[in-house]
Amino acid sequence: MTSTTDLHNFLRTRRSIRRFKPDPVADSVIQNILTTATFAPSAHNRQPWRFVVVTDLSVKEKLANAMAQDFERDLTRDGLSPEKIQSQINRSKERITSAPVAILLCLDMSEMDSYPDEKRAQAERTMAVQSVAAAGLQLLLAAHVEGLGGVWACWPLFAQETIQKTLNLSKSWEPQAMFFIGFPVETPEARERKPLKDIIIFK
Ligand SMILES: Cc1cc2nc3c(=O)[nH]c(=O)nc-3n(C[C@H](O)[C@H](O)[C@H](O)COP(=O)(O)O)c2cc1C
Repeated sequence: MTSTTDLHNFLRTRRSIRRFKPDPVADSVIQNILTTATFAPSAHNRQPWRFVVVTDLSVKEKLANAMAQDFERDLTRDGLSPEKIQSQINRSKERITSAPVAILLCLDMSEMDSYPDEKRAQAERTMAVQSVAAAGLQLLLAAHVEGLGGVWACWPLFAQETIQKTLNLSKSWEPQAMFFIGFPVETPEARERKPLKDIIIFK
């Protein structure tokens, strides 16, 4: 029987892993991870999460190249030097192509409630985004259960349409994040956490 201390320690030992062995991850393991991700809580139990699993190198390359164009446009607008832009683009391409599995997490609003007023419509959207994020965390913890590492990448938010076009996704699948998953080649130290006294108020 696993003790609660062991379980807490397990949850606390998840790390963002950014470098992976080239070894593939079995489809059954990916299915297990995604099944666990779908046990996340969601507003009205509408489960607005959608997943695109990319393991094919040619698809990863296509995606990396398409996203790089958006990235280059944004960094050019930011006024970065061509060398800096190239190095950031190369790094992002490498991130996608070197991960054995890239999982795109999307938000689908089509089954969420509709409201005539902006305030409630916005609250409903926030609920859906929060639900999708809960599935994202559950996905990372499930990967940790499997002895895999993973990292959350937020940059799909900056290239939503490009990703939809490249992967031929329905317009209702709004890219939110990408998770890179594989067997870790690094064991990073835990990043510092704010002390509880700074972030909690007991009343
Ligand atoms: C919403 C969100 C977006 C993130 N985006 C990125 C990202 O684009 N690139 C990256 O390397 N890490 C990203 N991370 C990972 C964080 O940097 C990481 O979780 C944080 O530094 C704490 O480290 P830990 O996960 O090892 O505890 C993101 C995490 C979250 C929750």
